[in-house]
Amino acid sequence: MSPSEVRPNSAPSSSIALSVNGRERALEVDNRASLLDTLRERLDLTGTKKGCDHGQCGACTVLVAGRRVNSCLTLAVAVEGDEIVTVEGLSDGDRLHPVQQAFLERDGFQCGYCTPGQICSTVGLLAEAKKGWPSHATADVSHVCGPEGVTLDENEVRERLSGNLCRCGAYANMVPAVLDAQAAERR
Ligand code: FES
Ligand code: FES
Repeated sequence: MSPSEVRPNSAPSSSIALSVNGRERALEVDNRASLLDTLRERLDLTGTKKGCDHGQCGACTVLVAGRRVNSCLTLAVAVEGDEIVTVEGLSDGDRLHPVQQAFLERDGFQCGYCTPGQICSTVGLLAEAKKGWPSHATADVSHVCGPEGVTLDENEVRERLSGNLCRCGAYANMVPAVLDAQAAERR
């Protein structure tokens, strides 16, 4: 096919500036592009994983304005102006984020494919617990919140991480990792 026969891409697009891991990234995106595909295919941030691409597995979890979201269900054009943090943006230079450190120390993974999503989700859930947000596993919402927010236990962690699936079944080590991370956050 000669260049003159190539049909122009008529999909509507937008020029946007995304703030990702503290860096402004200007780009032209198809208005239908997911944040997940934009991170991976356009910005080379491949730490965020695609599992189901349908909001079912949590592998694509990132933080947008401090809250965890499934990036496969989020349009890139919808998050312009928000601070986006991916797993690549959590560490401080060579120093791992406390959640990353806890997962490492507790061996909270096997193949590691779900791990970036599990870690970003844990950062988000710790922030939610700190704000005193209850979960479905919270028995008594009137007494759950101390001055430091919700103190997590195993049931709370399992519930709050239930949107992040692990095909390897590494949950047994993830749960103590999350509890360790909350303890470290409070020290
Ligand atoms: S890839 Fe987004 S939830 Fe599975
Ligand atoms: S560690 Fe393999 S999918 Fe979770």
